[in-house]
Amino acid sequence: MIAIVAALEAELAAVLDAARASGEVTRHTVAGRGFLRGRLAGHDVLLALSGVGKVAAAATATVLAERADAVVMVGTAGGIGPGVRTGDVVVADALLQHDVDPRPLFPRWHVEGTVRFLPDERLTRALSAAARHVVEAHRVTPPASFGELGIEAPSVHTGLIASGDQFVSTHRDSDRLRADLPDLLAVEMEGAALAQVCTTAGVPFALARTISDRADDDAHLDFPRFLDAVAAPYAHDLVLGLLAHLPAGRDTQ
Ligand code: ADE
Repeated sequence: MIAIVAALEAELAAVLDAARASGEVTRHTVAGRGFLRGRLAGHDVLLALSGVGKVAAAATATVLAERADAVVMVGTAGGIGPGVRTGDVVVADALLQHDVDPRPLFPRWHVEGTVRFLPDERLTRALSAAARHVVEAHRVTPPASFGELGIEAPSVHTGLIASGDQFVSTHRDSDRLRADLPDLLAVEMEGAALAQVCTTAGVPFALARTISDRADDDAHLDFPRFLDAVAAPYAHDLVLGLLAHLPAGRDTQ
């Protein structure tokens, strides 16, 4: 059983449509957290919308980690690293919570015994392969929406993603993140919380995000349009590509 999560319905819309098209989908609610159960590309899947922010992501991840063999998160992020541009995909090889500061009790960004949570290597390799495939397909045949959204020649990056309860939308804040975390590629609002819960639960996880903006005040982007035109189809292709790389069946280990 593989759980697929995104924060917003628009991010997961095409994956939800694919699950509904491939068979019966049942709706469940545990501790107020809704999720769907169905089949996708030969796998039993749970599909969940976490909502925005670390607390919502942690609560959703707790419910999913009790029921799934692996948890995968997709969605959007703001690009921080040099060369991380709108339309690129960033695959996490580490996640941290940039708004956690327990000094002087513990080092900066330290939670539950670590600073950086590490995704499962095998799942991450499969997700990276799916990301390269998606990006290559869009490079070869760019949809009309790419031109309108200023996206050209997207690429895949692998590295650090940071999460915090803040939509980063000023040069000042993104410059500060770059100065504090020189290897940071992208920022979003859920992934490291999900990573913390899955790590504590011993459940493998992986995460990939499509870059929707540069996390600064120059982002002249129509976010809803980006979600429909880019983020949703990317999430669909990433998830289907990932599932195709994994052996079909119930057990992902
Ligand atoms: N998700 C997409 N863009 C983001 C940003 N700039 N900050 C936080 N989360 C995001």
